[in-house]
Amino acid sequence: MIAERLPAFKIGSLLLSNPLVLAGISNLPFRLLAKEQGCGLVYTEMISAEGLVRNRKAVGGLMKSCPEERPLGVQIFGSNPQSMAAAAKIVEECGAEVVDLNMGCPVRKVVSGGSGAALLKEPKKAGEIMEEVRKAVSIPLTVKIRTGWDEKNLNFLEVGRIAQECGVDALTLHGRTRRQGYACKADWEAIAQVKRHLRIPVIGNGDLTSPEAVSHFFALTGADGAMIGRGALGNPWIFRQILQLFRGGLPEPPSLEEKEKTIFRHLQMIIDSRGEKHGVREFRKHLLWYTRGLRGGSEFRSQAANWVVHSEVVEHIQKFFEKIREWDLSA
Ligand SMILES: Cc1cc2nc3c(=O)[nH]c(=O)nc-3n(C[C@H](O)[C@H](O)[C@H](O)COP(=O)(O)O)c2cc1C
Repeated sequence: MIAERLPAFKIGSLLLSNPLVLAGISNLPFRLLAKEQGCGLVYTEMISAEGLVRNRKAVGGLMKSCPEERPLGVQIFGSNPQSMAAAAKIVEECGAEVVDLNMGCPVRKVVSGGSGAALLKEPKKAGEIMEEVRKAVSIPLTVKIRTGWDEKNLNFLEVGRIAQECGVDALTLHGRTRRQGYACKADWEAIAQVKRHLRIPVIGNGDLTSPEAVSHFFALTGADGAMIGRGALGNPWIFRQILQLFRGGLPEPPSLEEKEKTIFRHLQMIIDSRGEKHGVREFRKHLLWYTRGLRGGSEFRSQAANWVVHSEVVEHIQKFFEKIREWDLSA
């Protein structure tokens, strides 16, 4: 059974229109597309606290935003409580509505420096970071963790309790361990457990790849918010579809025209913000996601790696969609 309409959602003093959150998986152009489709809160990709403190001007560019995407959560990572607090202060001064602490990134380079998921191995230090950041900023503070370092060290309840005691306003739990990376099924039972264990709002994350999955997730876990990651890549419409389902309607997939239009808009936004060379390179990644499941998509994707010029990409996309329309007409 589908739950009632999705309720508004509060993180500290910040009231969100709904509890659907875009994970920190992309930059401003994609965040804007997700926002247009009804997402309640977007997060930036993680930003180095040390980098931000040392070179505020250059690294601060990663926080580039615009009014249409607000409210914005900015995620920082690091292992030094003082640097994390100083970086959080910069985030607040730059006008972000939420600051988020990354304590879940599994990447070797990050954990070898004691940041990201490595902090799950040092709950005391994680607590010191949360405490220092809490003292430094008054905007809402969230922390994102995993279930633990590995299956033998599942300490999400302990770290969640520390976060609550430190005055963190909401906890995001990605239902996988560091060792699991992005594989295996996300553990929604762990999310249900931490929700029962804490008073602060809990945002669950992992495998929320369809409106139906999100509905099942809320019913099963009682979580306050749902963070969508890979399920939104190439599919910003997932937010609209979830909202439609919870309003009692049928999730409306994008038409071919809508998909094509969005792809062109996204490409243009990326080129505008990053320039042709870097923009095209970055957009090729998104093209792979957008064309998943489309007829002729695998051949299209196999060629995409060679495209470097904006006009060339536009031409290939146009031809790709024309071909699908021809197939549809002749079917
Ligand atoms: C391309 C990509 C970039 C990511 N970058 C970040 C990041 O900067 N910070 C973060 O907390 N998580 C990051 N993640 C992890 C996601 O936020 C999310 O926790 C993970 O993908 C699990 O959710 P999912 O099963 O819905 O994809 C990233 C994931 C992907 C695929």
